Order: sequence, then C-alpha cells, then structure tokens
Amino acid sequence: MTDLNSLEKFNQHYKTFAKRDYEKSLNDFFTTQVQFRLPKDPVVLELGPGSKSVFEDSDLNHKLITAVDFSPEAIDLNRGHSSINYQLRDITKNHAIEENTYDLIFDSHCLHCIERVEDRAMSFKNIYHGLKSDGLFCAEMMVQPLGSVINLPHKYIANSRNLEQELISYGFTIKYFMIVRELVFESGNGVCDLLRVICKK
Ligand SMILES: C[S@@+](CC[C@H](N)C(=O)[O-])C[C@H]1O[C@@H](n2cnc3c(N)ncnc32)[C@H](O)[C@@H]1O
Repeated sequence: MTDLNSLEKFNQHYKTFAKRDYEKSLNDFFTTQVQFRLPKDPVVLELGPGSKSVFEDSDLNHKLITAVDFSPEAIDLNRGHSSINYQLRDITKNHAIEENTYDLIFDSHCLHCIERVEDRAMSFKNIYHGLKSDGLFCAEMMVQPLGSVINLPHKYIANSRNLEQELISYGFTIKYFMIVRELVFESGNGVCDLLRVICKK
C-alpha cells in the first residue's frame, strides 16, 4: 500500500480490496517491544488501523481500545468485528485526540502517509497531548536508507536523525529508537529502512 495518501485513494482502496488485514510487522513490534512496557489494562489509541486493528489479535481488553481512521470505507469494514471502538477521525485536525487520555498511542503506519509539514505538526501535537503523563507513543515508519535518498509518491519519508530531533522538539523523551534492516518497505523506486520508535510523554 505504498502509493496511497489522499482520503479519496484510501477510500477507493478499502472499497476495492475488502480483505481485513494489517501489516504483520506491526504485530511483531507490538508484541516484542511495546506490550511489556504497558500498565495493566491500558487505554489505547491506534492511528490508521485501515481494514483491521492490529489489536484485534492481541490479548488486551478490546473495550479499552479506540482505533481512528479518516477513511469511512475502512471504518465500515471494521464494524461488528470486535468490541474495539473504531471511529472516523482525521488526526491532522486540531483537538482530534482527547487530552490526557491514553496509556499508549500506536501508529499503525499512518504518520508516514501525512506529507504536509503543518499536518504532521498538528498530528504530533495531538498525540503528545492525548497521552497521560508517562504514556507511550510508539511508531513504526519508513525512513530514508543510509547513503541514498528515496522519494515515494504521497509519503513523507523522514531522515531518521531529523525525525529524532522532531520528536524531541514536540516534548517526547525517546526510550527506544531502532532501525530494523531486515524489515524494509519496497517499491518500484527503491527500498526504505524501517524505524521503530518508542517515546514517553
Ligand atoms: C498505510 S495505511 C495502513 C493501514 C493498516 N494499519 C495496515 O497495516 O495495513 C495508513 C492508514 O492511515 C489512514 N490515514 C491516513 N491519513 C490519516 C489521517 N490524517 N487521519 C486518520 N487516518 C489516516 C489511512 O486511511 C490508512 O488506513
């Protein structure tokens, strides 16, 4: 799903390919690096679940999980499949996330689809304020590979060093920052590195 970004394109995608699924690396990241850091019964927000929340296959309390996506087609695909609270929301809008609410905000490959600098800034601001004190923001995203530059249509592919500074500038404390070279995003234009980052409010 590397060439999508606009709401129209995501809607078209979810209308056409109705199979419910998510990228398996997200489940691997959550189970190996994130879950053990959470308090008991965490209140969770997932960003960009698409056709299926990664948490449907977790043993977290589904009633405490909200999954937000700006595609109505994606939200429709999820209705009635679990007690996860799927909601239509655009995270780039002011106050899109309730303040001081979540133990975990988990980016399911949504943020690297947000290209405009102002939209990214608002999203990070929303995420920071949405976390409880000591809450965790965890993201898996495409970053530029070492030694070359890749441009993908409709994607914001950060330089990992710049991303580190960006996160610090929003107030986050970085706890884990790992480029996973055996997990890559491929496209016709080349291969991106995959970054996994865990930040504390
Ligand atoms: C690359 S897809 C990932 C979907 C799914 N997590 C997976 O693993 O296949 C990114 C998702 O983020 C959603 N998205 C993109 N921009 C968004 C925004 N501004 N607010 C909320 N959701 C957004 C898209 O509709 C899409 O479902």
